[in-house]
Amino acid sequence: MNKQHIVLGITGGIAAYKSAELLRQLVKQGYSVQVAMTDAACHFITPTTLQALSGKPVYTDQWDARVDNSMAHINLSREADAIVIAPASADFIAKLSHGLADDLLSTLCLARNCPLLIAPAMNREMWLNPATQRNIAQLIADGVQVMGPDSGIQACGETGMGRMLEPEQLAEHIAAAFQPKLLKGKKILMTAGPTYEAIDAVRGITNRSSGKMGYAIAQAAQEMGAEVTLVSGPTALATPLRALRIDVQSAAQMYDAVRKQVAACDIFIAVAAVADYRVAEPCEQKIKKSAAPLTLTLVPNPDILAYVAALANPPYCVGFAAESENLAEYAEQKRQAKRLPLLVGNIAQQAIGSDDNELMLFDDNGIHALPRADKLTLARQLMHHIAQRYEGILI
Ligand code: C5P
Repeated sequence: MNKQHIVLGITGGIAAYKSAELLRQLVKQGYSVQVAMTDAACHFITPTTLQALSGKPVYTDQWDARVDNSMAHINLSREADAIVIAPASADFIAKLSHGLADDLLSTLCLARNCPLLIAPAMNREMWLNPATQRNIAQLIADGVQVMGPDSGIQACGETGMGRMLEPEQLAEHIAAAFQPKLLKGKKILMTAGPTYEAIDAVRGITNRSSGKMGYAIAQAAQEMGAEVTLVSGPTALATPLRALRIDVQSAAQMYDAVRKQVAACDIFIAVAAVADYRVAEPCEQKIKKSAAPLTLTLVPNPDILAYVAALANPPYCVGFAAESENLAEYAEQKRQAKRLPLLVGNIAQQAIGSDDNELMLFDDNGIHALPRADKLTLARQLMHHIAQRYEGILI
């Protein structure tokens, strides 16, 4: 990604102290950040702190003599790839929604020709006030991206909606906003997580898949404009924003859900660690312990991905292979056997449950390595690759 330039606008609220951490994270992620503050913001955090963290002079005044032509509002907004207001106070939100421009920050928002993202932060009654809700609805209708707020304990001692999102969450939203919309309008069906095959009323066979890779891919796909349906085995993960999640337990349920959804999709990505076998006759009651050995008969589960790939008019199919050895050989064999345009290989011991991973992409053009990174970074790179392959672009 090119180095993006963000104007970080800070307005007056106690959450302004968290903006220093947001700024630090954005700079660490490679963005160049120009800070602009309202007068009220300077009562909560000093420009000196933000200047030190951004490595750039901080602007607070519309008439700042440092800007050659006294056009700070135009110059600063023209250089920006996005403007982020964090925290955005109720007063500033009201100004934005009416197009007021009586200080540097509101003027450069009005003069912008780039996306605007705001992170509201205020007391819960201020947030719930119909005037604020009206203003927020207006901003959403105007195409402004509203990040949060969250609910929780507030600086004033009350509890409720109005807390600013944490810096890490804001940094995620900002990174998502910069993703190219290469999959706009495309329908993506996915499987993720483990499956659970019942032995009896309380016991079952499952595996150590956490679902993290699949959920990261769902998030990356929807950030790129896709409509995502996620058929998920049991996980404790939060549903990625805007994805439609269908919860299942067993491979048979996953198979049924995929069969119902598959006709409508353009791309199918099978990330789930589907159990290869299920118990032939699960017991409805809890099996009583005894001294005798217990034998379970296992029968093979349907191969969901193979079924989809063999449809008369299949979507673009992407499979995953978690191998513990001979990755290249086994993965390519699997790709050929299931007739997949793309297969993503990873080493099972490194991948399962961890936050980082390393991927090898196998397709008709050979092998493409995605070096070790966190799963969301890898998911974004993978979705880039898929979007280009889906459009028939060679990379
Ligand atoms: O288990 P295997 O290594 O064959 O998995 C390869 C790919 O096939 C994975 O993408 C997995 O999600 C998918 N799969 C499936 N249904 C199965 C087994 C695997 O969709 N029963």
